[in-house]
Amino acid sequence: DTSYRIATIPGDGIGTEVVPAAVDVLERAGSRFGIRFEWSELEWSCEYYARTGRMMPENGLDVLREHDQIFLGAVGYPGVPDHVSLWGLLIPIRRAFRQYVNLRPVTLLPGVESPLREVPAGGLDFVVVRENNEGEYSEVGGRLYRGTPQEAAIQESVFTRRGVERVMRYAFDLARSRKSRLASATKSNGIIHSMPFWDEIFRELGAEHPDVKTSDYHIDALAALFVLDPTRFDVVVASNLFGDILTDLGAAIIGSIGFAPSANLNPEREFPSMFEPVHGSAPDIAGTGRANPIGQVWAGAMMLEHLGHADAATAVMGAVSHVLAETGVRTRDLGGTASTQEMTAELLKALDQEVAAR
Ligand code: NAD
Ligand code: IPM
Ligand code: MN
Repeated sequence: DTSYRIATIPGDGIGTEVVPAAVDVLERAGSRFGIRFEWSELEWSCEYYARTGRMMPENGLDVLREHDQIFLGAVGYPGVPDHVSLWGLLIPIRRAFRQYVNLRPVTLLPGVESPLREVPAGGLDFVVVRENNEGEYSEVGGRLYRGTPQEAAIQESVFTRRGVERVMRYAFDLARSRKSRLASATKSNGIIHSMPFWDEIFRELGAEHPDVKTSDYHIDALAALFVLDPTRFDVVVASNLFGDILTDLGAAIIGSIGFAPSANLNPEREFPSMFEPVHGSAPDIAGTGRANPIGQVWAGAMMLEHLGHADAATAVMGAVSHVLAETGVRTRDLGGTASTQEMTAELLKALDQEVAAR
């Protein structure tokens, strides 16, 4: 048997509902494909913060380092300010483990209708490569000037040549393995001084990859094209904040934020990578059993893929596709009535059939 140590951090809100669901699916896939998971469930969350004053223990990153991969639900909940919960857990993990690539597929699953009128069934299949370690998410120069009528908040973006180059190189390689088209999200027409630098590096790497067709789009126009003409994209590379915004939009055009998965990758494999859905803790539906578990399950499939188990990943996604295309079972975000648990039971059943049919 192949065996992996996986740290799970269900986190807050619906994270605690969709992570157990996805773990069940991964366990089932594992048992069918000879993969053994040793799960360490870590209770780090806003509740943990309320008890301890920290989002994770002081040695939290060392604990995670002992694991092969990290499987995260979502963190953040009313009662703890988001900048506290996120800078206390999510962002340090992405940075400490050099997960500088945030891979976010925008794929329309079989049986799901895009809210966009012109997109045919299965008509969306592109990937956003989001820079995940620097850019607008910066700790540099964060200042609040209080106590005067001119109160102000100032934060500096950080774009390093190394940081921009490595994520772009990943995106160029990914494009080469697909349709060899790479779009860059920029804003060099604005007064964002870092973006001409981003463009300069994109051009240099473009010259090194003459077989990849490159294009630049200003982020505002690009957001519109995600709605008006999304089938033109293959791979899109974007800064941290631009990529964040584009991928909630990407989730919307594939039918629901409840679907979209995300892989925070350390491509060099020096450290664990982290797999999570694009969505957050959804306080508005937490505890009601309404959460769509598919984003979390899909993130699990991305973890299987990263671990080198493409066959198991394909089976999991085959089960997802089967349920969506053949059974009519839908959670409420898709206008259905199935609970998280009912959807998960359906996925498990489909996975068994998927494996039996091989
Ligand atoms: P959200 O993604 O949690 O919710 C946005 C909307 O989508 C809500 O109406 C919610 O009900 C719905 N939704 C999200 N996931 C769903 C699912 N699986 N099934 C059905 N509906 C779903 O975004 P938000 O409201 O901006 O953020 C809530 C909290 O989550 C905040 O504290 C935020 O900081 C945090 N957050 C955490 C992460 C993370 O840990 N990676 C990501 C995003 C947001
Ligand atoms: C995401 C989330 C996070 C981000 C927040 C919660 C810090 O929105 O993973 O997309 O912006 O990276
Ligand atoms: Mn986001």
